[in-house]
Amino acid sequence: MTHQVRAVVARGKGAPVSLETIIVPDPGPGEALVKIEACGVCHTDLHYREGGINDDFPFLLGHEAAGVVESVGEGVTDVAPGDFVILNWRAVCGNCRACRRGRPWYCFSTHNAKQKMTLTDGTELAPALGIGAFAEKTLVAAGQCTKVDRTASAAAAGLLGCGVMAGIGAAINTGNVGRGDSVAVIGCGGVGAAAIAGSNLAGAAKVIAVDIDDRKLDTARKLGATHTVNSKDTDAVEAIRELTGGFGADVVIEAVGRPETYKQAFYARDLAGTVVLVGVPTPEMKLELPLLDVFGRGGALKSSWYGDCLPSRDFPMLIDLYLQGRLDLDAFVTETIALDDVEKAFERMHHGDVLRSVVVL
Ligand code: APR
Ligand code: ZN
Ligand code: ZN
Repeated sequence: MTHQVRAVVARGKGAPVSLETIIVPDPGPGEALVKIEACGVCHTDLHYREGGINDDFPFLLGHEAAGVVESVGEGVTDVAPGDFVILNWRAVCGNCRACRRGRPWYCFSTHNAKQKMTLTDGTELAPALGIGAFAEKTLVAAGQCTKVDRTASAAAAGLLGCGVMAGIGAAINTGNVGRGDSVAVIGCGGVGAAAIAGSNLAGAAKVIAVDIDDRKLDTARKLGATHTVNSKDTDAVEAIRELTGGFGADVVIEAVGRPETYKQAFYARDLAGTVVLVGVPTPEMKLELPLLDVFGRGGALKSSWYGDCLPSRDFPMLIDLYLQGRLDLDAFVTETIALDDVEKAFERMHHGDVLRSVVVL
């Protein structure tokens, strides 16, 4: 059997997305059919639409999603119909070198659905990050589904599927923020704001939010930043040093992805402190640093890949903290929108007007 559902498709480079009817097959072995309840709009979706990832158009966009498993294919035992799940774009294989060496967050042998979803004329769709969740239903590998507490709001839960997990994980997994630490977060969009929330969960004593947009600093405060710095007209490194007794922060999290902010992060950390790079640069970006500074400052320079998360460990834990009122995931949802509003949401995202727009179905 197949399912005809409405979905958001990017047909060609730079062209506005369109709402289309697509055909989703019943799940085959190891696959799950998920009825999507909510899906956040992420920069990566826009990046796909602009042809910045690859040319495999048409794309089925959307990848920050939560929904209910409708049916599962042969051999699936971890999830069952009726389960409320968060989708993830990196279901680990358990077998590759990274997995065997205990670093599954570096697994690149990821599992996605084998069968293809198509347009009504049979054209195969390429789902964004192997998910494609701006759709009433999508087909994924069962390993991409993590069951969480049903009482969580779908809009909030879905955000853990990408950007918010990346930010929280940058603090709690990669940065290993500890009780009493001082943390500086450079860039307070969805990812940076989540890093602030994550630092608080980890028990940081001081959380300094840095951005060039006062609107983002307001949200940062709501999510627990103890200090804010608008670096448009202030030297971010100086300001962070001043706020940390002249030393620099124990952990600095970069959530912009630009050379100047990478450099600020590098110099804003205390000697032997940790720099966590979660902002993704473009291929042509370069940064020159005196080697003596690299050598002499000690500490650690780490990049954070999807928050170095393990979905099966981190998603249920964070949903529990959310339901206990200890993690305000709702604060990331600036607006909820309909499927046919994705193009407008891209525009708002581009202008920095939102932390997250979330499609609710
Ligand atoms: N200094 C400080 N903040 C800056 C600067 C700068 N020079 N330039 C931009 N910013 C701020 C923006 O004002 C915005 O608040 O960085 C933030 C970026 O946030 P978003 O555009 O919402 O992006 P987000 O989804 O948070 O992702 C940030 O992390 O995972 C990566 O690919 C993602 O590289 C991206 C980064
Ligand atoms: Zn693996
Ligand atoms: Zn994303």
